[in-house]
Amino acid sequence: MDDGQPPRRLVVGISGATGIAYGMRALEFARKAGVETHLVVTPAGQQTRAHETELTAADLAAMADVTYRPADVGAAIASGSFRTVGMLVAPCSVRTLSSVAWSGNDNLLTRAADVTLKERRRLVLLVRETPLTLGHLRAMTAATESGAIVMPPVPAFYLLPRTLDDVVAHTVGRALDLFGIDVPDMPRWGE
Ligand SMILES: Cc1cc2nc3c(=O)[nH]c(=O)nc-3n(C[C@H](O)[C@H](O)[C@H](O)COP(=O)(O)O)c2cc1C
Repeated sequence: MDDGQPPRRLVVGISGATGIAYGMRALEFARKAGVETHLVVTPAGQQTRAHETELTAADLAAMADVTYRPADVGAAIASGSFRTVGMLVAPCSVRTLSSVAWSGNDNLLTRAADVTLKERRRLVLLVRETPLTLGHLRAMTAATESGAIVMPPVPAFYLLPRTLDDVVAHTVGRALDLFGIDVPDMPRWGE
């Protein structure tokens, strides 16, 4: 039923850090929660998809409601007037982190992230690199100063995960918590 409210939309960016499973799980959980997803995958993100999964680019695109080309800097998510609950970049490479930190706007992913920040919406970056240089840390600081939430996907062992998928699902669940998107049955301390 149309209640006159805009649809709950989440922009999801997948960049070329290892761990495309994080982005895929986020798309799956958001869909289950009835949140419309708008996906942009960088060329390096497509490389990790090919390396880490058996999915084609079309299979990955089918996991989102709308998928954009990274070169399409005129797409809906490039404008602040397109209403969203925010943007999750999962996984987030150091290259993408740096571009976001200094408003690079050099492809649709980083443009949409910059728009998210300028509209003072939530931007969560699952930055994946280790060990970290001072340059990486400075980029994280700059992104945080601009309003992003830097959330490296670091596993929590106290919930006794049994599989890699448990680890991925818990991190993604915690990331979606930051948007108020509920993942049913996610293990929580004290519940
Ligand atoms: C298999 C693979 C794994 C990679 N893992 C990482 C990583 O964990 N973190 C990172 O910052 N870059 C990683 N890279 C390098 C990035 O893909 C590369 O810096 C690229 O330019 C990022 O571009 P993007 O930010 O536009 O996706 C990886 C590349 C490949 C092919």
